[in-house]
Amino acid sequence: MATNGWSSRIDSVSLANVAQWIGTQNLAASTQSPEHAITMPPQCYTDSAFYEFEKEAIFSKEWLCLGRVEQVPNVGDYFTITMVDEPLLVVRGADEQIRVMSAVCRHRAMIVTAPAAVDPETWLDSKTVPDTSGSCTQFKCPYHYWTYDLDGQLIGAPEMHRTPGFNDKDVRLPQLPVEIWNGFIFTNFDADAPPLAPRLSRLEEKFANWHLDQLVDPEPVWVRDLPWNWKVMHENSMEAYHADRLHAGLHAMLPASHVMPTVYEPGDAAVITSIRAAHIDYSVNPTYKPLRPIIEGLSQEDRWVSTFALIPPILLIGVMTDSVLYRMVIPTGPESIHIRFGLLIPQHHLRPRRYKQIRKMEAEAVRIIGAQDWAADSGVQKGLRSRFAPRSRLSWQEEVLVSMNRWLVERYTAAAERVAAGPGPSVQVVELATGR
Ligand SMILES: [Fe+2]
Repeated sequence: MATNGWSSRIDSVSLANVAQWIGTQNLAASTQSPEHAITMPPQCYTDSAFYEFEKEAIFSKEWLCLGRVEQVPNVGDYFTITMVDEPLLVVRGADEQIRVMSAVCRHRAMIVTAPAAVDPETWLDSKTVPDTSGSCTQFKCPYHYWTYDLDGQLIGAPEMHRTPGFNDKDVRLPQLPVEIWNGFIFTNFDADAPPLAPRLSRLEEKFANWHLDQLVDPEPVWVRDLPWNWKVMHENSMEAYHADRLHAGLHAMLPASHVMPTVYEPGDAAVITSIRAAHIDYSVNPTYKPLRPIIEGLSQEDRWVSTFALIPPILLIGVMTDSVLYRMVIPTGPESIHIRFGLLIPQHHLRPRRYKQIRKMEAEAVRIIGAQDWAADSGVQKGLRSRFAPRSRLSWQEEVLVSMNRWLVERYTAAAERVAAGPGPSVQVVELATGR
């Protein structure tokens, strides 16, 4: 079934303009060896036409993290999430499988999981219906009561029997591919996308001893409408150069001078960077030491080396010796994002006596370091809009940025070639699997 892909709503002239512009920008200069590479053009972080182009080049082609399996432990558990303007519904079906489908009613495009009324106070803040979660046996759109089962099949539509030729059985919420990797739920708007896991083998090896699929996230937190580009946030999280400066003193257990070579080969679905800690059993909190028991089964190397991995474009994972932090970065425009961050810990570490005190100390560390990073992200975004915004050389401690550029440029170039090849279905229409 052909659906309205992002590009079908975009002026194809502006897509072609961006594709042409890309050809003039020498993006290859950002993918050279780290000693010679320069940063990407500032417009890639600020321009609205470029952002629309990115939706085609990246967000309609890559595996996008939507959350964790522990959010939907039982049959009928669901949550909705708006992924780059696309309202999606994640649900555990009657067969216990997790499904991802469009949350848009096939009747008049209402969000099927939206509340039947909004709280006027919340409404004034966001002016959009909230993402929701819960447990149910069917989804009843609150607008006209069109009702779908957990597979997205229409099973009821009041008064439609008088509409000639209308048959419930012909109507189903569009289904998207699902891949579960280590407890993270991924989907893809490209039904033909190659599977994700085989391209994460290097990361799988690095993170093996943490058994991410057996960890749980007790208290994920959303922060909405942060005013910077999605790549600005990931770059800040991945490069070590600023850690000794912006976070002077606070990051002493992971000194920038200990950064290790980036792991990335073309074709990889993750960019990986590591820092050898100043002492074994490092952690990021005011004591620099783990606050929880060390995760069982970690090797000596695991207890010395902090590894951060970006599975672009959404998910960042950083392992520590007592927990694993992760962050989802979801663009809402060229210069705005929602983020969700969480901390994964073993289920049996959830209820120690000091749990609340530990959470408080962890939250304090996140708050202090986060306040500095967010000041930088926000300042960088403002600077990138300047006519004087640079394309700068890099320090050796920023090598990972070159790997990220390589991942991006490969995709920008491929999409520019598709656009230049003309308005074929592969460019103009995103095909979604219908599940039939
Ligand atoms: Fe930082």
